[in-house]
Amino acid sequence: MTRQARVRVALLFGGVSTEHEISCLTAGGVARAIDPERFEVVGIGITADGAWVRIPHAELLSYEVVDGRLPRVPADRPEAVLLRGEDGPEVATRDGDRLADVAGVDVAFALLHGPWGEDGTIQGLFEMLGIRYVGAGVAASAIGMDKDLMKRAMAAAGLPVGPWEAITPAQWRDDRAASLARAGALSFPVFVKPARGGSSIGIGRVDDPARLEAAIVEAQRFDPKVVVEQGFVGAREIELGVIEDLDGPPRVSLPGEIRMHTADAFYDFDAKYLPEDQVSLQVPADVDPVLLADIQDLAARTFAAMAVEGLARVDLFVDADGVAWVNELNTMPGFTRTSMFPMVWAATGLDYPSLIATLVDLALARPMGLR
Ligand SMILES: Nc1ncnc2c1ncn2[C@@H]1O[C@H](COP(=O)(O)OP(=O)(O)O)[C@@H](O)[C@H]1O
Ligand SMILES: [Mg+2]
Repeated sequence: MTRQARVRVALLFGGVSTEHEISCLTAGGVARAIDPERFEVVGIGITADGAWVRIPHAELLSYEVVDGRLPRVPADRPEAVLLRGEDGPEVATRDGDRLADVAGVDVAFALLHGPWGEDGTIQGLFEMLGIRYVGAGVAASAIGMDKDLMKRAMAAAGLPVGPWEAITPAQWRDDRAASLARAGALSFPVFVKPARGGSSIGIGRVDDPARLEAAIVEAQRFDPKVVVEQGFVGAREIELGVIEDLDGPPRVSLPGEIRMHTADAFYDFDAKYLPEDQVSLQVPADVDPVLLADIQDLAARTFAAMAVEGLARVDLFVDADGVAWVNELNTMPGFTRTSMFPMVWAATGLDYPSLIATLVDLALARPMGLR
């Protein structure tokens, strides 16, 4: 019996964003779950300094939380290179001034969160090199990364988004008082966020207007552009997975809910990734059929309005009146086995290995170039 050639998947992970370790954790999870009969993994780690290194599949298997410590990409590995070969895209290792271990790449899966990964930059590189890749294209990735541009696009599409103000570095420099007045006119509490952040890093909840300026300065440590959003107090936080369907409307998962155990807590970094008692994920969320239909429709409309490809997680607030609002759309949602996105799909009948295969197959099936 002849064996079908396996699909060679370049997994990219790590990266220069604040979510480096989370990305490594995800890469370990995917490496352990991906079907080895169908897929051959080529690991490309991006160090926190931005160097590209080749990480063998076997080494990736050990990327997990050990004693509360998250994995990182080591710098002392052979340099990895992606290139546009004569017969299609290739991956290689640089050995002095020559290339070694040159192999074709069928598809790239960038398990990168945040800027320089989830924001259209690496998607642009894949486009230039002619590499098929999992997930959203350049424009949708870039818009989805920036909480201001994202909300503008959603509002323009008629999607329900809460009030917010963006503060650019130029506005802050030229008229700080006006920026503070705009943001301070929102109802408190407000949430102050780095515009292109993720994993709740740099986000502050501000209850007292006197603390607003300090929270903005804190968020600016992570991104010179900041958004200030009106807080949804006492709202439920519900998230849905969406997957593209090449033949029709996107598929939407059952919802999951994030339950904070204390009233004024929010879903911060520790609550997201480290074992803590302050939060639990309920999958599937307990919602009545009317709300279920409503939020699934909203998730699908959000996915379509943002012209996302591949996958997205749509995060909603459901307020005390049962009205759903879009908080954000993530084009590369947390993707460890115990992250919300894989969990809601598992609850919907698509387990983690099948989810990975589905996303890679979607990427392989989609045309290159303008779509
Ligand atoms: N407008 C808001 N009202 C209430 N809670 C919020 C608001 N914005 C953010 N939060 C809380 O902060 C968390 C992180 O904010 P989010 O915008 O989702 O940023 P990230 O991109 O880092 O996930 C949310 O999951 C929620 O718990
Ligand atoms: Mg979020």
